Amino acid sequence: MCGIFAYTGQNGKDAAKVLLDGLVSLEYRGYDSAGIFTPESGVIKTPGAVAELRKRVPKKYSGKSGIAHLRWATHGEPTKVNAHPHGSGAIWLVHNGIIENFKELKKKLVTKGHAFVSDSDTEILAHLIEEHLKRERSFEKATLKALKEVRGTYGVAIQYKGEPEKLIAARMGSPIVLGIGKGEHFIASDPSPILKHTKKVLFLNDGEVAVLTPKSHTVYKLSKEIVHRMPEELDWSAEEAQKGGYEHFMLKEIMEAPEVVVNTLRGRLIPEKGMAKLGGLEAVAKELANIERIIIVACGTAYYAGLIGEYMLEEFAGIPVEVELGSEFRYRSPVLNQRTAVIAISQSGETLDTLEAVREGKRKGALTLGIVNAVGSTIARETDAGVYNHAGPEIGVASTKAFVSQLIALALFTIFLGRQREMSVKTGREIAKELKALPKKLEKVLAGRKEFEKFAKKYKNARDFLFIGRKYNNPVAFEGALKLKEISYIHAEGYGAGEMKHGPIAMIDKDFPTFAIATKDSVYEKNVSNIHELKARKGPVIVLATEGDKEIAKLADDVVYVPKTLEMLSPILNVVPLQLFAYYFAKGKGLNPDRPRNLAKSVTVE
Ligand code: M6R
Repeated sequence: MCGIFAYTGQNGKDAAKVLLDGLVSLEYRGYDSAGIFTPESGVIKTPGAVAELRKRVPKKYSGKSGIAHLRWATHGEPTKVNAHPHGSGAIWLVHNGIIENFKELKKKLVTKGHAFVSDSDTEILAHLIEEHLKRERSFEKATLKALKEVRGTYGVAIQYKGEPEKLIAARMGSPIVLGIGKGEHFIASDPSPILKHTKKVLFLNDGEVAVLTPKSHTVYKLSKEIVHRMPEELDWSAEEAQKGGYEHFMLKEIMEAPEVVVNTLRGRLIPEKGMAKLGGLEAVAKELANIERIIIVACGTAYYAGLIGEYMLEEFAGIPVEVELGSEFRYRSPVLNQRTAVIAISQSGETLDTLEAVREGKRKGALTLGIVNAVGSTIARETDAGVYNHAGPEIGVASTKAFVSQLIALALFTIFLGRQREMSVKTGREIAKELKALPKKLEKVLAGRKEFEKFAKKYKNARDFLFIGRKYNNPVAFEGALKLKEISYIHAEGYGAGEMKHGPIAMIDKDFPTFAIATKDSVYEKNVSNIHELKARKGPVIVLATEGDKEIAKLADDVVYVPKTLEMLSPILNVVPLQLFAYYFAKGKGLNPDRPRNLAKSVTVE
């Protein structure tokens, strides 16, 4: 996700102080490395967050303008050399996003004599602008030319030592907001660092570029046409700005699901061939073609993602899969060999039980792989290979967007391993096509979020809640229950719908509601029977159904509709209503969903 902040002013303020203070309010966007540049004092970078950077900035470091950055790594480990700002000659910049064609651009630039110091995709952009500057002799023109060559996403702030008062900002897929002050201008990834200087802001749209000096700001389209748009006055607090105007990080992160799907998929599908291209697995592709068994290890929400992965991989890649809690795996004596792959799923990449399970796998000679969100985390480093989620930092303790990205990564794994085996091109294409359609469908689900506020009110006195589902949606029921209990502290249980008659149905009465997942799939009829059984015991039932299913509405007390998708991908749509339900339920109880009692975001102890 990364945080960008840039300043130019003529009011005698010290840019270094403005930038370092501003970075603090962006820390929620990234905290694995930080850096600052002013034309007068040069660049300083470090692994770690703002406190680390402050320690390294000498007292005499200053400037009238400058750029600064907090990184959440995507390409390249979170090291000093990969930290931003990146520079080439007189051009320096900070970037949020992913430059997809960085490899081909790098090749071209190398033939022109450019030497690169980092593994970062961002450094390419600095070199590209410098290359164009040789001919164009104009900072603006060179930047426009370079931006037109770049594919992918960016929010950037760029500075040229030859015109130190000038800053250029540009946006394509990653947010950029300009702060319009008196005799000073700002660029940031969200308004939080700007608000204590000015409330006047201008949000850039995709494909727009802004040129700022202390006294002026001009916005262009990439086609050079001038954009006439008035700044707006924001009355947000800095905290509201970090949350993008949402009341809590949890809601903001649930709302990011469509974007997360795009980011996890970016550059990894070859739809026409029905294949997945996973750069992180290339080095072990041969070993993967020969593995006979997979063991997925994870904890909490990541474990439930793993259970869904088991269904996907067994059905479509034909590989036997077992899913184990990290905390159990490490204490028994699992039988593994070189034909076993241990896949660790972890948002933080630091969960101790999952990490120890990876180490156990290694000790026993298995191939270890990671599906990890935090780049450079311990699990990412200790596994033999893996796939990053690219979901951006998840701040809410209750994991939401990471779960969605874990399921996307597992679907990509399934295509990758399936196509190495028996999966047909046709099946690969179908999955790829439907994966691409998910962001729009998720937007539709999220557009109906106000419904959940109503349900949360209606069921607010429930002391217990049951969540049921079958097959791919059995683990989704577990996840729905986990979300509700961890942020609203009421008793919630997830059950396989088929297990109801083996015990849990004894609890059902008019005060014990159930959330039943009964979207149209291969087990739909069975789920409908289970809902009948609940209704016969007077249990209130909210049903999660497929759009257009009018019949189920007659049976249910309440219905939530989601669009149709492939059965294997249905958990990606179905989990979002459950996340929203838990969120509004906790909020309705006056609880803060971002700070559940007794819980930490990352469990690095046993
Ligand atoms: O960082 P990890 O994905 O390894 O974390 C695993 C669990 O601790 C985590 O999913 C936890 O269950 C969340 N609080 C669930 O919302």
